[in-house]
Amino acid sequence: MPTFKTVRGMRDFLPEEAEKMRYVEEAARETAKLYGFEEIITPVLESYELLSAKAGEELRERMYVFEDLGGRKIALRPEFTASIARLVATTLRNYPKPLRLFCVGSLYRYDEPQFGRYREFWQSNYELIGSDKPEADVEILALTNHLVASVGLKHYKFKIGHVGIIRGILSQEGIKEEKQTHIMHLLDKKEWNQTLQTLKEFKASRKCVKTLTQLIKTRGENPAEVVKTIKRHVEGYEAAATALENLNQILCLVEESKIGFDMTVEAGFARGLDYYTGMIFEVFVPEMKIAIGGGGRYDKLIQLFGGEPTPAVGVAHGIDRIALAMEKQKTPLKKPKEKKVLVIPLKEELKTRAIGIASAFRKAGIPTEIEVMGRTVSRALQDADRRNVGYAVLVAPKEMEKGKIILKNLAKREQQVLTVEEAIQSILNVKT
Ligand code: HAM
Repeated sequence: MPTFKTVRGMRDFLPEEAEKMRYVEEAARETAKLYGFEEIITPVLESYELLSAKAGEELRERMYVFEDLGGRKIALRPEFTASIARLVATTLRNYPKPLRLFCVGSLYRYDEPQFGRYREFWQSNYELIGSDKPEADVEILALTNHLVASVGLKHYKFKIGHVGIIRGILSQEGIKEEKQTHIMHLLDKKEWNQTLQTLKEFKASRKCVKTLTQLIKTRGENPAEVVKTIKRHVEGYEAAATALENLNQILCLVEESKIGFDMTVEAGFARGLDYYTGMIFEVFVPEMKIAIGGGGRYDKLIQLFGGEPTPAVGVAHGIDRIALAMEKQKTPLKKPKEKKVLVIPLKEELKTRAIGIASAFRKAGIPTEIEVMGRTVSRALQDADRRNVGYAVLVAPKEMEKGKIILKNLAKREQQVLTVEEAIQSILNVKT
């Protein structure tokens, strides 16, 4: 037999890595609860047609696509938003709005494997469906800020823009949607010279090329100032001015509600996915060039999938990338000790008693291990501490004579001499 390896771009997660991923996932779940988002589970496989409709040319080319045995063209999901839009267009069509939907799971993209870029990765994804109001956009920004702060990341920064500004200009210039999308892809890849060159090829007016040249350079950390500059540049472009006003409302709400995060507002910012119609954003930490999360408003997708016209805004966070950012910033996991017990017999002849005691804890529903390595108490305790085990039960000769054990609370570094029943009750009574 050959030596088997994981398929290129796929990873095994050993306990420590798995723990980090689950830690971020848990923080994402907490954030969902806090902001009123309910979890749904959608399939990993979807029809290629659904996933590719507005995925954008780059993502479309990177999908894992195959024909199933029934001859259907299927793809592994590269993101959640298309699946959720499908659900809202069909099964959830008549559900009262707004819907706040959360999901978490693995996604697949045939990206070139490199730091923070994997072919299988995990996202926590939130969609707020049914509102076109700026406060809905702000909710998505606020929950992203909450999640990133709650895992302990520092110095992160939001990059914010609005696709309606540039699309508005291009529409007024008579440039059709498909060609606009091509321009947005060039902007997404920061191919600014090529963007301007392509505009000329599309027969855009001189004014348009000049405006885009200025917008590409327009960015800054003071939202009010950037908005003022953009306003000057887009004079005479009505739809672009309306989009800017929408962005301004969102930025003012963020500012006035004192949610408080650092940001750069960029007029020429675009994202690879084609469904965005409004505010877009990404989040970065200074230690990494790649985004730890990104999202935006997409008001036309649900309708495109046959649903009622339904505005929506959402975000996905890269769980792998947040875990990597935590590593880079040496962020400790805030772990409460687990309600778990390690039973250690102090003498060879107390082994049978120890096995019986472990069994009593398990019957009470408390996960319990027994020391099977014959290590000294201090070695066994060190190991338990490292693995976040909350309690140790020492089965000691003197105490056993009185029918008692020593219960050590490893978080508080306290110990009590108790009967087995008392020890069980004391652990069960602790609120986690
Ligand atoms: P996205 O920007 O394609 O947006 O992905 C969101 C996040 O997923 C990225 O910021 C990154 O952290 C993570 N990610 C993407 N590709 C990879 C990869 N190859 N390896 C590791 N992490 C990756 C979306 O997926 C949209 N559906 C977001 C959205 C939701 N927009 C509206 N609602």
